[in-house]
Amino acid sequence: MSTADVDAVVRAFHTAHGDEPVGVWAAPGRVNLIGEHTDYNDGFVMPFALAQRVTVAAGPRADDRWSVTSLNLEATETFGREDLQPGMSGWQAYVAGVVWALEDAGHRVGGANLVLSSDVPVGAGLSSSAALECATLAALAGLNDLDIEPLRRAQLARRCENDFVGAPTGLMDQAASTLCEADHALFFDCRSFTTEQVPLDLGAAGLELLVLDTHTPHALVDSEYATRRRSCEDAAALLGVPALRDVTDLEAALGRLDDEVMRRRVRHVVTENARVLQAAEVLRSGRVTELAPLLDASHASMRDDFEITVPTVDLAVRTARDAGALGARMTGGGFGGCIIALVPAGDAPRVADAIAEAFARADYNAPSSFLGVPSSGARPVS
Ligand code: GLA
Repeated sequence: MSTADVDAVVRAFHTAHGDEPVGVWAAPGRVNLIGEHTDYNDGFVMPFALAQRVTVAAGPRADDRWSVTSLNLEATETFGREDLQPGMSGWQAYVAGVVWALEDAGHRVGGANLVLSSDVPVGAGLSSSAALECATLAALAGLNDLDIEPLRRAQLARRCENDFVGAPTGLMDQAASTLCEADHALFFDCRSFTTEQVPLDLGAAGLELLVLDTHTPHALVDSEYATRRRSCEDAAALLGVPALRDVTDLEAALGRLDDEVMRRRVRHVVTENARVLQAAEVLRSGRVTELAPLLDASHASMRDDFEITVPTVDLAVRTARDAGALGARMTGGGFGGCIIALVPAGDAPRVADAIAEAFARADYNAPSSFLGVPSSGARPVS
């Protein structure tokens, strides 16, 4: 986020509503360092918040309506209490759903004008929707003096996503957007909801983290995500455990499952959880370079066992490794989106160029990239 974003939403608020906003709030997108499709299995994840975020200027209205202006979309939508129906379509559902989730939890939310701007890439697996939900929640909590602790905020934002928008996701994205701290990754236990801020000082380790968006259109992502989730739940039921988090003896569990596809899904979740625990351990002791083989193993597991990677993503990861990245993996829900690559400091442009060349040769869309900087979670910014 830059002060330019804050100035832009404040100026636009003034133009649209003729007065100053009461405040400005922001919430970030995230990359997940490791722990993919583990959150809804009651497992472990380790995301960090990006510097890219949704910025919202907000002020109260006299009526019980909400007006939302997106500077990115150059569009304004208005809705009232009567419109707060789960299943609402359009981008404004991510805002309306937060009002709905707050009210449903017993918080009184007054009408408001919101003007927002985002620099979180959309459709890239960087949680632009969680950033929108968490920024809206921060703004509405601020405007209405709602005393809601951070974890609860993340849970309410997730309710918007699950029960209003209708996407059956886990808690990782909203937890990252709300709870992360600068210079740290968030080690998050999705069952007990315990959190640990794990230091992530890439610079001190002589490293940087390239985030590369493959610009793959991911049409299948919603249906495939839901299928993966169901398959994990079916496997847990067959194994007689509350969630795949509870599988302690992988070989024994695999021996009890007949379906080869289901065996692969279970193997991914169980081994990925173990990798998150190892990753937390290496970061706690400052051995950042040792993340690299865990990233590689996570990617192989997503590719071969969970089967959520696609050819563009696999080519990006392979090329990153060939070009000198120490480790690389897809990040996010899958079927496109971004990869992350751990590279020696200063090498990111060269690795990104190598991937762009490989994409051009394969006739894929040109990728775009930036450096991932562990940043802070949702907060007031003015
Ligand atoms: C999406 C979901 C998250 C998580 C990841 C996969 O980002 O929103 O809850 O399941 O996919 O790790």
